[in-house]
Amino acid sequence: MSSNFKKPFSTPNLNIFETSEDASIYVAHLIAALIRERQKQGQHAVLGLATGTTPKIVYQELIRMHNIEGLSFSNVISFNLDEYYPIPSNDERSFSYFMHNHLFQHVDIAPHNIHIPNFNCSNADIINHCVDYDQKIIKAGGIDIQLLGIGRNGHIGFNEPGSDFDSVTRLVDLDMATKEDALRDFISLEEVPSHAISIGIHNISRAKKIILLALGERKSKIIKTALQGEVTTMLPASVLQDLSQVEFVLDKEAGMLLG
Ligand code: GLP
Repeated sequence: MSSNFKKPFSTPNLNIFETSEDASIYVAHLIAALIRERQKQGQHAVLGLATGTTPKIVYQELIRMHNIEGLSFSNVISFNLDEYYPIPSNDERSFSYFMHNHLFQHVDIAPHNIHIPNFNCSNADIINHCVDYDQKIIKAGGIDIQLLGIGRNGHIGFNEPGSDFDSVTRLVDLDMATKEDALRDFISLEEVPSHAISIGIHNISRAKKIILLALGERKSKIIKTALQGEVTTMLPASVLQDLSQVEFVLDKEAGMLLG
């Protein structure tokens, strides 16, 4: 990683960068380093991936490294955090569509190594699909790096306020704050799905490394509370305070209230 990254503030689990680009490129390089390390060992790299505006530059940098530096994704197995339910995978508002559009169709990841909780199944089958999703994560050897964003209400994935810290992959009700934030992709609140499938906080907590990336002033308040407030299920991201494998990566704006 080039030495021109300015880090106004840095501790073992908190890195604050001058710009959202620097923060995102730093995260992409952490992911690329794992992929390459596992390639040398002849092993898979298991990535837990997020959607939303936050990871977009991370994925752009990974695509650039693939195109320019020959970074291969042939040993990558991916598990996405969450997906609306129900929603067709080819719906442009689905996270499945987002991931293929922003990463998967631009790199050489094998389609059978892509896992997104997009279960076009009956309600009766959902529990079985969720158990199966968790089993697939375990069978893959667990998640090596879990990339997280953070919702305005402190959710991680779609683990909304009130989610138990031992929760697993399951069907969840979406908070009004979450649905309001999703309005940018849907025409009206009525169009926004009321449910989603999300891996749980237990699944996230078992990842070998967790990177929470937050960018922009709009995340500064929830970052302050999540990192320095009470650890409570009412703010799911606060659970990360107690996990030694977490690294918070922020730009200056998102970290501006930390003290
Ligand atoms: C959605 C996703 C979360 C994401 C959050 C923040 O709710 N389920 O995984 O972290 O949005 O999105 P953004 O990065 O656009 O602020």
